[in-house]
Amino acid sequence: TEIYFNGLFGVQPTLPMTFAGLEAGAEAVLPPSVASYVAGGAGDEFTQRANVRAFERWGLVPRMMVGAAQRDLTVDLFGMTLPSPLFMAPIGVIGLCAQDGHGDLATARAAARTGVPMVASTLSMDPMEDVAGEFGDTPGFFQLYTPTDRKLAESLVHRAEAAGFRGIVVTLDTWITGWRPRDLGTGNFPQLRGHALANYTSDPVFRARLPHAPEDDPRATALHWAGIFGNPLTWDDLPWLRSLTSLPLLLKGICHPDDVRRARDLGVDGIYCSNHGGRQANGGLAALDALPGVVAAAGDLPVLFDSGVRSGADVVKALALGATAVGVGRPYAYGLALGGVDGIVHVLRSLLAEADLIMAVDGYPSLDRLTPEALMESARDS
Ligand code: FNR
Repeated sequence: TEIYFNGLFGVQPTLPMTFAGLEAGAEAVLPPSVASYVAGGAGDEFTQRANVRAFERWGLVPRMMVGAAQRDLTVDLFGMTLPSPLFMAPIGVIGLCAQDGHGDLATARAAARTGVPMVASTLSMDPMEDVAGEFGDTPGFFQLYTPTDRKLAESLVHRAEAAGFRGIVVTLDTWITGWRPRDLGTGNFPQLRGHALANYTSDPVFRARLPHAPEDDPRATALHWAGIFGNPLTWDDLPWLRSLTSLPLLLKGICHPDDVRRARDLGVDGIYCSNHGGRQANGGLAALDALPGVVAAAGDLPVLFDSGVRSGADVVKALALGATAVGVGRPYAYGLALGGVDGIVHVLRSLLAEADLIMAVDGYPSLDRLTPEALMESARDS
């Protein structure tokens, strides 16, 4: 209604309304190396494209005379009631997309304004305590890249607990960075200059490991960090990870049902099905195609999903395939680049408005009505 009402009076939207528009706009305002860092993926980006195309194979079947005048998009997650099933996936060094470098704080403020939770990356340019301080009433989650130094990992998790995060998301698919030709071509590291390490440089365990204050020798600090980054975790490490926290523990990057079952047996609280937006391994399957198998194996565990969500319609389809909550990555990073906190809010509100209207028009007034029966596989070869 707002869009058409504004249109009647000639008010143009200040920010693009489509993903393509957001991406093009962000590319125009960001330094080229940052734009390609965000937009790019692994290899020739086959998997990244497959993530998006997988949504085109499914069509939502409209149902009539349901009386969907009121929609209920609330979702229960770990005992919390969220106003919608949308969340913001973790984006490392998102500060590169913000004019003032404080993209993590901006994302947290957008979370506070919309009720859409943020999963805060380990690789943030603002310390996690400052980020959590901006959440308002919206719950936040902390994403852990597990360092090889176990004491440091413990410190990060305990700080997240103390800062008020409501869950720990352990990312498994990025203990080493994938083959990303766009980054290899542009070399985005000059922009980073150690800023990426705010969670580390503010950490007592990390600081104690260095012979100098991290600020005094950023290069040595970054080298030390690079040496401990990326723990190729195995299932044998899971009891240790589990023991670190009583907060809900989720594993991110899970796509195989056997991995889901194993995670369940070892006591995780939630599964996060994702292929990192196609940034890690190329040539793999679309994350959406893995979702039904993950959901079936997860039983009553909640399943978070991301990778390739570009519209409200995509959100609805992922919900129908069994996701408990649906995440976006690049879309909100572009919103930040184009409009700061307001830009992120614009992107989130647009996604939610479209999802809500689809549920209205197609006759699915609540999330429990969105089951696989709501979808048909499109006959058209996309
Ligand atoms: C990411 N992603 C990511 N994931 C994570 O667990 N920790 C991180 O620090 C990052 N960093 C990161 C940076 C950038 C620039 C992007 C685009 C992505 C992956 C992210 O959480 C999510 O899985 C994907 O972005 C989802 O795919 P879409 O929505 O971008 O297609």
